[in-house]
Amino acid sequence: MSLLRIDGAVDPHVHLRGMEWSHKATFSSETAAALAGGYTAVMDMPNTPPPTVDAPGLARKMRELGEGARCDYGVWLGADPAGAPTPETMTKLARGVCGLKLYCGHTTGTLEIDRELMGAYIKVWPGPGPLGLHAEDDMIGAFIDDLARWRKRGHICHIHSAYAVSRLRRAKEDGLPITAGVTPHHLYLTERDLDALGPKAVMKPPLGTAADREALWEGLRSGVVDMVETDHAPHTWQEKTAQPPAFGVPGLDTCLPLLVTAANEGRLPLERLQALVADAPRLLLGLPAADPDTFTLIDTKARWTVSADSLKTACGWSPFEGFELTGRVVKVVLRGRAAYVDARIVLEPGFGANLYTETAGSVADLGRGREETKASHKT
Ligand code: DOR
Ligand code: ZN
Repeated sequence: MSLLRIDGAVDPHVHLRGMEWSHKATFSSETAAALAGGYTAVMDMPNTPPPTVDAPGLARKMRELGEGARCDYGVWLGADPAGAPTPETMTKLARGVCGLKLYCGHTTGTLEIDRELMGAYIKVWPGPGPLGLHAEDDMIGAFIDDLARWRKRGHICHIHSAYAVSRLRRAKEDGLPITAGVTPHHLYLTERDLDALGPKAVMKPPLGTAADREALWEGLRSGVVDMVETDHAPHTWQEKTAQPPAFGVPGLDTCLPLLVTAANEGRLPLERLQALVADAPRLLLGLPAADPDTFTLIDTKARWTVSADSLKTACGWSPFEGFELTGRVVKVVLRGRAAYVDARIVLEPGFGANLYTETAGSVADLGRGREETKASHKT
């Protein structure tokens, strides 16, 4: 066995579901998938109903996530298509979340905004978290222009095309505080896989060409693309096989093993993994280095084949079924407690802590009891 240790792996981009979409998956089931995949914390996106765009939406998510989470977590606030709240409300909400997500393209949920509203949100967002962008090529340039104009910190989520990588490179050369994450599905699949995978290859942004995929790998190797994020988005098989199929694929169970496999194949130095799945997301999200008792051990030589049975995600399918991987998570320890051992989840729902507690407490009426209990787990 050859063990790689990753300290404090964080997935900055997941859609855990729960609440009104508990039929797809729950906070408990998907944080189990996170632990099985080697992650000790996840950042949940706002597009699951009720959308996380205001104090009631945030309160509901914090309450249910607090009860269900087996790993640590944070929550993204969503830009509300109905318009920005008052600056006071925005400042309060901003303190309880890891960042503000802007949906500037069509996808799952009801949060799509236009260019004008995107600009308005970028202008008023007080931080301290970053602005996260969901967009395809058309809006990425506009996002970069607005970040430069208002001097704000931004993150391009699931960067998917050679064009977007070239825009990102230029923005970085111009000195903009901008980062980007790439998903395992955009790194591993292309539009050519649609024939074989059908709805398992349908997501937003869509899969690109082989040239797009190569630009993403090259961006990752050169450091232009900063991190890997799964965009974990479970849907029931029935929803995926409906017409049209729901957008999105699960990724938490398989991301780290796919990256170790890539390293074994010489596509990426193994030493880069710590930066790609832990250090860079932590920097983006304003999280300190993980405590010494929060880590993941991966057997970098273990060979296995992804199957529906091997997944902890409630959706029970993956675009990577049948992939032969070299690299398997063997143990996860969270704040000194064994979390995942011998392919079993051993942490109960509710152990996960909100990593933005200080701030969550300041948003009035947020179901405080839960947050207070959680804070005691933190060392
Ligand atoms: O494919 C996607 N699915 N892309 C997104 O941006 C959202 C996600 C979902 O929530 O299903
Ligand atoms: Zn997403």
